[in-house]
Formats: sequence, structure tokens, C-alpha cells
Amino acid sequence: MAARGFEPRYKGVPMRLFLSGPMGSGKSTVGRLVSGKLGLPFIDLDSRIEERTGRPIADYFLSAGEPEFRRVEAETLEALLREPSDSVVALGGGACLHTGLRRRMLEQGILITLMADPATLATRVSRDERRPLLMGKDPAAVLETILALRRDAYAECHAMLEVANLPIERVVDSVLEVVREAPVVVPLGPRTYRVEIGRGVVARLRERLGKASSVVLVTDQNTTQPWGARAEAACAQLPVTSVVLPAGESHKHVASVEQIWDAALEARIDRRAHVVAVGGGVVGDVAGFAAATLLRGVAVGHLPTTVVSMVDSAVGGKTGIDRAQGKNLVGAFHQPRFVLADIDTLSTLPREERISGLAEVAKSAWLDGEGAVAMLEERADALREGDLDAFGDVVRMAVRLKARIVSRDEHENGERALLNLGHTVGHAIEAASNYATRHGEAVSMGLLAAFRVEAHLNQSSGPGNGASEARLGGLLAKLGLPVDWTRGYGNAARGFLGADKKRVGENVRFILPGTPGRSEIREIPLSVVHAALA
Ligand SMILES: NC(=O)c1ccc[n+]([C@@H]2O[C@H](COP(=O)([O-])OP(=O)(O)OC[C@H]3O[C@@H](n4cnc5c(N)ncnc54)[C@H](O)[C@@H]3O)[C@@H](O)[C@H]2O)c1
Repeated sequence: MAARGFEPRYKGVPMRLFLSGPMGSGKSTVGRLVSGKLGLPFIDLDSRIEERTGRPIADYFLSAGEPEFRRVEAETLEALLREPSDSVVALGGGACLHTGLRRRMLEQGILITLMADPATLATRVSRDERRPLLMGKDPAAVLETILALRRDAYAECHAMLEVANLPIERVVDSVLEVVREAPVVVPLGPRTYRVEIGRGVVARLRERLGKASSVVLVTDQNTTQPWGARAEAACAQLPVTSVVLPAGESHKHVASVEQIWDAALEARIDRRAHVVAVGGGVVGDVAGFAAATLLRGVAVGHLPTTVVSMVDSAVGGKTGIDRAQGKNLVGAFHQPRFVLADIDTLSTLPREERISGLAEVAKSAWLDGEGAVAMLEERADALREGDLDAFGDVVRMAVRLKARIVSRDEHENGERALLNLGHTVGHAIEAASNYATRHGEAVSMGLLAAFRVEAHLNQSSGPGNGASEARLGGLLAKLGLPVDWTRGYGNAARGFLGADKKRVGENVRFILPGTPGRSEIREIPLSVVHAALA
């Protein structure tokens, strides 16, 4: 059973809290107190290393040397990550330098960095003779160097808490608050950002804007009230320039970008201005592109208001507009500074938009694995009927998956293509209907058509995958989505298949659905897809 304060991830997946930060930041003291409050065991990574080596940390570090110490540290942390139990873990100051393990900690639990300035840290540790990195040196100077070297690694966390001058109880409370909120991190070194998901999170907007000089608030006709107005109120004293775009895909156009450019430039924004997008994927893509290009790039923050934008377009940094030659053909990668996914905004979203967005959620669950699919099956009725309480964990699951994939493959050179599951045929169905079929409905049909392609390929190499196809079909139907792909896929769609951006010569990069958590990218001849769906 999950401990107090932790939202269980999925059944059987342990939840862990990791405390990171430089020496003197208070990881062990805070960790012990937090573990008491959460009712979880406390683990000190350094103690585990001492158990493993049979020697005090400082001794071992000095005699074995730093590279060997880091190797043992990585082994010890790796073993800890395989343990199937919840815990609060205080890491050593350099443990965050193991990039692969740091990313696993971010996926497996909550990683919080405790931070203070070098002078404060130096005062705290100067009397401690067991610190091998400080021996015989000026502590403040050493700490300054360490912080500079580790800045990018420390930045990859669910929250960085400034602890200098804060009473320990306040630090503990802040840690517990982050644990309760369970944000998702997109770990990209110094460009790391957090996706905060929950009801009413728009209220945090002023805090997230930090040192912004002004805000260019972009909405569309359907989101300006009440959500744009709420965001504007949450900007408090900051100067706000409001831009209301016409709604819909037909306005994902350069004219909308110009509307933002002109409003921002007339307001004489400077490079510390933030563009804030309040709306669905169209507003987010257009506002993100405007932000990427204004003054050669200002920050953008997303407040997504549709299921699609929460689980997909607001996360990952793709921005852009459509041209007569095709969708999304002009754009830029521009990662947001923050994402606030306020579930309350879904209360005004039309039912058909909500249900269409659930196709992307089902796709994410399938890519994520068994736990996510089971959670979605359990909540499908509530999601279909718009019960907002059912959405938080589901959006979190999908965002977590996207964050994991984006952090490994930001520019879609490999694994990110997995997110196109169901989209090759889906896009063709959408285009053939002249976009009368909603994107999510087309993806739903595309997901099931993908099983046909997989079965066609497998005929020579093994049994079909009928149980999985039936399972995903059942889930999509329960979510209110169309499942008979033959109704959307005809000659016209067949023609559009070859126009897929993922086409490589006569081949297409196709995603085979497989089983939950085991989809696969495969380059196959387009003729195979045609034959499978004939
Ligand atoms: N950048 C990416 O990585 C990425 C990923 C997926 C999709 N996209 C893009 O996103 C777009 C689709 O996004 P979408 O499905 O959010 O469509 P959308 O932005 O057109 O929104 C759908 C409709 O709902 C309205 N709306 C939005 N939020 C509302 C709310 N809370 N209450 C009432 N009405 C609301 C909008 O005005 C619009 O009419 C496409 O252009 C697609 O290419 C981009």
C-alpha cells in the first residue's frame, strides 16, 4: 500500500523520494524528518556505500580515488533502485552526476535538490573533517567550483529548494508539498522544466513567471473567458498584453503569429518578457512559435486547456504553423519554461473535444505499459463522462511518458517516433476526410489499423496479436472513440498514406503496437501497409 502523502503511481510500482544537493545542504537531516512524516524508511546512500566497501566514506574516497568511488556509488544506487519498496533516500552530493541513474530517479520517484550559496554551505561544513573534497582547501572556493560543475545535473529535479536561512521545519514542509503535488519533470539540463498538473494550478502563474518583465498572454475566442481572464488575474502586478486569436486549426497560420508579434512589439517587450499560451494545441503551437522568434527567442509558458494540449502539445517543445502545402511544415523547437496543466479548464471543453483527446491518452498508456493501460480501463467511464477527478493521474501518466521520451530524443531522431503510434494511418484518415474527422477519432482508427499491419507482417513469422487488438479496441470503445477503421480508411486515405512525413523512399517508419509497453518502430515497405489494409 502507498504511504501517506504519496499518490500511488500504479499498482506495484514503488514510490521514492530522493534528496540531492551539495554537501552541507541538509539532505540527511531533512530526509530523516521527512521520512518520519511520511512513515517511510530512511536510506542514506553513503551508509549503503560504507556497508558495501566496509570502510568510512572519506577513507575509501581518499584511498580508492574519485573514479573508483563513483563506480561503487553508481553500483550501490543501481541496486537501491531495484529494491521494490517505498523509501526516502538521501544521496551523496555527487550522486546526481550519474546521468542515466539520475534520469531513472526522476522517472521512479520525486527528486528534490536542496541548494544554498557557497558561503552558507562552507560555514555549515567547515568543521566537518570527514569531507574528502575539502581537505586542506578553502571550503567556499571548492564549493563554488563544485556548484558550477554540477549546475546542470542539479537542475534536473522536481524542485530546487533554496535552503539558506530557512528553518528546517520550513524546508521539510516544502519537500512534503512537492511530494503531494507530484509534478512531472522534463529533464533537459539547464533547460529542465516542470509540468504541474492539478485543479487550480493556474494560481501559481505569478510564481512561475519569476523575474519576467512582462507577459504576452495568448488565448483564443473560446479560452479567453474564463481561463485567459483567470491567468491574467494570476499575473498580479506584471504588465500584460492580451492577444485573442480566432479559434481553430484554420487559424494555425502565419497571420496569427503576426498578430502576436505585432502586439508584443507595440508593447515594447524586452527579452525578459514571457509569452503565456492559454488554450489548446493551436494556441500553444502558434504562441510557442511566436516566442521562439520574437527578439530571437523569449520564454514561453503553457497553460493547456484541452486534453490534447495537456498530454501532448504543451510538452516537448515542438511549435509551428500550417502552410498550404501541409500541416506543421514551418516551426521551431522551443521548450517551455513551465507548464501548468489546470484540470479545471477541462470543465468547459466540449465533450467531443475531450473524447477525441482521450485517443492520445490511450496511445500513451499503451506505450507506457500494463499499469497505465489497467488504470485507464478502470477510469474509462469516468473519463468519457467528464468526471474531472479522473483526469489528474491520467494526464500525469501521459506527460511522464512524453517527458521520458523527449529527454532521450528531443529532436525525434529515434525513440520519439514511438509517439506516432496510430498516426500513420490516422493522419491519412484525417486528411482524406478533409479534416472533418477529428484527429483523435482518426488516431483511434489508426491504432486499430496498425494491428492489421502487424498481423500482416507476422503471418510469416509467428502468431497474430488478436488479444491485444481486442483489448485496445475495447478500451477505445469504452472511451467513446470509433474503432471500425474500415469506415475511415478508403481509397482517398490510401492515397494520403504515402504523404506521411515519416516516409523514407518507398518505406515508411511504422509503429507496430505489440503489447502494452512493447511497441516497436519498424521501417517497412509502404506496399505492405497497403496490402495489409486492402
Ligand atoms: N506541438 C506538438 O507537439 C503537438 C502535439 C499534438 C498536437 N499538436 C497540434 O495541436 C493542435 C490540436 O490541439 P487541440 O486538440 O487542443 O485543438 P485546438 O487548439 O484547436 O482546440 C480545440 C477547440 O477547443 C477549443 N477550446 C480549447 N480549450 C477549451 C476549453 N477549455 N473550453 C472550451 N473550449 C476550448 C478551442 O478554441 C478549439 O475550438 C493541432 O494543430 C496539432 O497539430 C501539436
